[in-house]
Amino acid sequence: MQRLADKVALVTGGGAGIGEAIARRFRAEGATLVVNDLDPARAERVARDVEGSAFAADVADSAAVRRMFEAVRERHGRLDVLVNNAGIAGHEADPARAERFAAVALAQLQERMSGGAIRTHADATLELSDEDWRRMLAVHLDGTFFCTREALRLMAAQGSGAIVNMGSIMGTAGGAGAPAYCAAKGGILAFTRAVAREVATRGIRVNAIAPGWIETAMTAPLAPVRAMLEMQTPLGRLGSPDDVAWAAVYLASDEAGFVTGQVLAPNGGWTMNQ
Ligand SMILES: NC(=O)c1ccc[n+]([C@@H]2O[C@H](COP(=O)([O-])OP(=O)(O)OC[C@H]3O[C@@H](n4cnc5c(N)ncnc54)[C@H](O)[C@@H]3O)[C@@H](O)[C@H]2O)c1
Repeated sequence: MQRLADKVALVTGGGAGIGEAIARRFRAEGATLVVNDLDPARAERVARDVEGSAFAADVADSAAVRRMFEAVRERHGRLDVLVNNAGIAGHEADPARAERFAAVALAQLQERMSGGAIRTHADATLELSDEDWRRMLAVHLDGTFFCTREALRLMAAQGSGAIVNMGSIMGTAGGAGAPAYCAAKGGILAFTRAVAREVATRGIRVNAIAPGWIETAMTAPLAPVRAMLEMQTPLGRLGSPDDVAWAAVYLASDEAGFVTGQVLAPNGGWTMNQ
């Protein structure tokens, strides 16, 4: 299938994980790719494979985002699809933190199963620093806003376009141990609905994906609780990046021409009320 033939698509955080899978699927469906990542080597590796161009930029830096979209305008003169995928879990610099939260979840499970009092607590909000809170909101919320604003300049002139924002089950269900991440993802879902209403009159669609637990570097530190996450997921497994990429293909394609302001949730049934 060539569902994205003749479309120019920019994927942020496209150098690894879900973003990389989206870039590869988009290419297979005929799109021309611009692969963004904070890490230049990652962006270049994927861009080479999908015969696209790479642009290293921090999506939380509005000037860098503006330069990236200027480069898109110069090279392609248009943008049909923006995928706001770049994201962090907040434990990148300190994987031990994620492992600690996994250990807390396991300890609480054991305490509940044994019928005793819960003596282990996550205390993530208590321990969260101003800096970590702000960086989380900056990458997810500022990044989604900055890229959307620049993309809209191109899409409004064309009178067409599709924007896909990466939410999460955490944006609605919450998650002990990830207050900033949940706030950021909830904000992305609300932003999606607001912008979808605003730009519908310009022929631009805006939707979100809210994946469940997906096997990427982001979730690797959760290995100790993997069995628990699988048990909580009706389909009995973690998702693959490709499970999410297919949702992005659909939302980006003309097949989703009557779909805007929606949240598509490839989550194995973990939650059924997105
Ligand atoms: N893995 C999951 O279980 C899961 C579930 C729900 C939602 N998500 C979301 O999906 C998206 C992708 O997650 P993933 O699991 O593929 O993560 P990942 O860590 O495997 O990949 C994220 C990529 O984004 C890049 N990136 C990080 N900060 C950036 C920035 N400021 N500017 C540009 N690029 C940046 C990283 O360098 C990396 O290449 C994120 O928004 C994440 O919150 C992931």
